[in-house]
This record gives sequence, structure tokens and C-alpha cells, in this order.
Amino acid sequence: MNAAHGGTDRLGGVVIKAGNPAHSSPHFSDIVRMEGVQKYFGAIHALRDVTLKVGRNEIVGLIGDNGAGKSTLIKVMTGVMPPTSGRIFIRDQPIDPDDYSVRMAHDLSIETVYQDRSLADKQPLWRNFFVGRQITNRFGFINIKKQKAIAEEILLKSIGFRGAGITVDSTVAQLSGGERQGIAIGRAMHYEADLIVLDEPTAALAVKEVRKVLDFVGKIRDSGRACVYIEHNLAHVHEVADRLVVLDRGAVVAEIKPEDMTVAELTDYLISLQHQADD
Ligand SMILES: Nc1ncnc2c1ncn2[C@@H]1O[C@H](COP(=O)(O)OP(=O)(O)OP(=O)(O)O)[C@@H](O)[C@H]1O
Ligand SMILES: [Mg+2]
Repeated sequence: MNAAHGGTDRLGGVVIKAGNPAHSSPHFSDIVRMEGVQKYFGAIHALRDVTLKVGRNEIVGLIGDNGAGKSTLIKVMTGVMPPTSGRIFIRDQPIDPDDYSVRMAHDLSIETVYQDRSLADKQPLWRNFFVGRQITNRFGFINIKKQKAIAEEILLKSIGFRGAGITVDSTVAQLSGGERQGIAIGRAMHYEADLIVLDEPTAALAVKEVRKVLDFVGKIRDSGRACVYIEHNLAHVHEVADRLVVLDRGAVVAEIKPEDMTVAELTDYLISLQHQADD
């Protein structure tokens, strides 16, 4: 838990609004905004003059072909790597790209969930909830009892895995892909992230698990947060997103409201982009 949130009672409940920046600072319009962002990997021009904003209480679906630059875009957005040039604003405040880091993104209430990389496999779940944010007592020792109690609450309330035979002592390796994703999202929700970034959360999941993840995304919006959701399955992203941003060879080529285009039309549109690339 970081000081930026202030006033949050860690034992009192999973989601407590007090001190959440989204609720306490009404004077910003976008949780994150990228302007004219370029990213080169050597000769590869991975992001071309990308301008993108994510408002509050908004689920933005990020779609595009393999290699379009989706993961690169969210890595730049969440402090994993700096842009080659361009500007990033968090809550309308400019960020110094040289200072920006994953830790700083955390502190600014941005959480990123990856299918594979978000959780430590051999660790029990309760430890996974507190990576980099240990709760210590006044002697500096980790407060295991308190951490377990909070983890228990996240399991029960935030994720709804009750009865699935999963406890805070289960290891991540015992979980299915969908359950891992649920835990990672639950963790992000627990930290009251104002922006939750999901990179391909439903890749290679069973149908039932996909439904869980889509429900989780719905919960993100219901709890007043924003989300960037990268997804290959157009039906899924069409269902949950408020706005779809299409990336093609590093450039934003379209912004679409799901209600303006059917899944079939969207599919045809993306295929037409690929054909342009082949010409
Ligand atoms: N660390 C890196 N070093 C060099 N090139 C990279 C690196 N990361 C990405 N790229 C290149 O940048 C381009 C965009 O990759 P990126 O991973 O962002 O695509 P993506 O849209 O996430 O694709 P996918 O849908 O397959 O996940 C690709 O050409 C890729 O090879
Ligand atoms: Mg990717």
C-alpha cells in the first residue's frame, strides 16, 4: 500500500474508497494520456506517433494484429520501458520519461496484469498479494497474520473463489490460468488501482474461465476504475469495452464504439487492414 492512497484501512475491508486519488481529486479528465509517442527497437518502429487517452470509469479495448505494438504501448504506458519520444500524462500531469518506472506507476495507482508474469509460481497466494508491499510491524518484521487475513478477504470478496478449494496457502502453480488471472486482477483491485491494464488475459483459457475474467473486467468498471484491455478475441473485447482502439503496425488507425460496429464488421475491418499490409 502506498502513501498516495492515504486513509485506507487494510484490515477493514477489501475495497475502501477513502483517499483513493480518483475520488479525492476531481480535477483531471484522463487517468492516462499518451501524446505523439514513438518507440523504436533499433530499426523497428514499434509505436508510430501514438496518441491515446483513457478516461475515468472507462474500459478501453486495445486491438490489432500480432506485432501491431499493443504490448509495447502498455509497457510504455506502465513504466516498463521509456518511449523513444513523446509525452505521457497521468491524471493530466506530465511524467518525466526518465523517472517513470513500474514502481512509480504503482504509486500512481496503475496496476498491470500479465497472464504469465504477474504472480510468483512457487509462492503461496497470500505472499503473492504483497510482493513489493509487505506489511511490517513496528520492528520491521512481516506481519504474516495480517497479510493472510487480507489475502483471505481478497479471495472471498473480491474474486469470489469461495468453494473452489483454493485457500491463501495454495500455491500459484496449483491454479488454472483463469484463476491466476482472477487472483492478479483481485490483487490489482485490492490496491484500488485507478487504472488496471490487462494484456491478453483470456489467451488459452477454458470457456468458463474466460467468463470469470470478463466478469472481473465488468467489476473494474462497476467499482469506478478504468481499464485498458488487450484482447485477440474480438467478441470478448467488443462485449466489455466502452471504446475500441485499433493499432496497425504501430499506429492508432481507428477508435470505434462497440455499439457502432458488430463483431462481424469489426472482424472484416481488421482483416482489411491485414490485406492492406500485404499489398
Ligand atoms: N523488446 C523488444 N525488442 C525488440 N523488438 C521488440 C521488443 N518488443 C517488441 N518488439 C517488436 O515490436 C513490435 C510490436 O511488438 P508488440 O509485442 O508490442 O506487439 P503486440 O501487438 O503485443 O503483438 P501480439 O498480439 O503478438 O502480442 C514487433 O515487431 C516486435 O517484434
Ligand atoms: Mg502482445
